[in-house]
Amino acid sequence: MKTLLVSLVNCVSILHIYGRAGDPLPCHSPPQWEAQVYMQNVMLRYTEWRNLSYDAVNQREYRSAEVDVAAEHDHIDTLILWKEKKMYEVNRFLQQCTITNLSGVFRPRGVPPLNTTYEEGYVIGGQGIPGEYITVYNFYTELQDGHLTSLVSYPSCFPIWDYHFTTDQGIQHTIYNGVTVGITNPNVFDVPKLCLK
Ligand SMILES: *[C@@H]1O[C@H](CO)[C@@H](O)[C@H](O)[C@H]1NC(C)=O
Ligand SMILES: *[C@@H]1O[C@H](CO)[C@@H](O)[C@H](O)[C@H]1NC(C)=O
Ligand SMILES: *[C@@H]1O[C@H](CO)[C@@H](O)[C@H](O)[C@H]1NC(C)=O
Repeated sequence: MKTLLVSLVNCVSILHIYGRAGDPLPCHSPPQWEAQVYMQNVMLRYTEWRNLSYDAVNQREYRSAEVDVAAEHDHIDTLILWKEKKMYEVNRFLQQCTITNLSGVFRPRGVPPLNTTYEEGYVIGGQGIPGEYITVYNFYTELQDGHLTSLVSYPSCFPIWDYHFTTDQGIQHTIYNGVTVGITNPNVFDVPKLCLK
């Protein structure tokens, strides 16, 4: 990944531009936010755009996606409560709920506070042209069930993309589009009514 970035990005001059020296850690990513995410998993063979509500404080996530499986078009809402180790998946068209007991641990996004090391900083885009470039940082995190390579923006460490590896799921690549801080509708974290029956 490092090699790829370096070959794509010609200017690695973050320290000059911002006068920052050394390790940018701690890098506090916003703990609660929403975004549209593109998720790709080669092993499990899916690519999807989803709306994501992310809550690191309570270790939970809500994802909403329009998916095409075979000839069917579905809308799936997924609520993942890592503390309770439960996943609730609602198929809106079929009005079906599937509840799964999870064995994994919370999946952090952005820069996790623990077990993270700073790798490199880059300037991507048109260097020196106002509005054309952004400074980004690359971090590596050891997780209980795998590892995470994440690219975030400077200075507030918003997620840009990451590669999340676990032995169960293989590598999942995620691209974050339009991250907004906060959760607009906290009710998305309620267990869906359909699943309480
Ligand atoms: C995702 O959010 C956008 C903007 O709020 C909305 O228009 C769209 O319908 C949502 N998509 C899904 C799959 O929930
Ligand atoms: C999930 O765990 C609950 C107990 O927490 C158990 O009653 C249930 O049978 C489990 N479901 C599956 C599919 O393993
Ligand atoms: C950090 O790493 C240690 C040692 O590998 C591990 O025991 C611990 O669970 C990790 N912490 C997190 C939050 O993953």
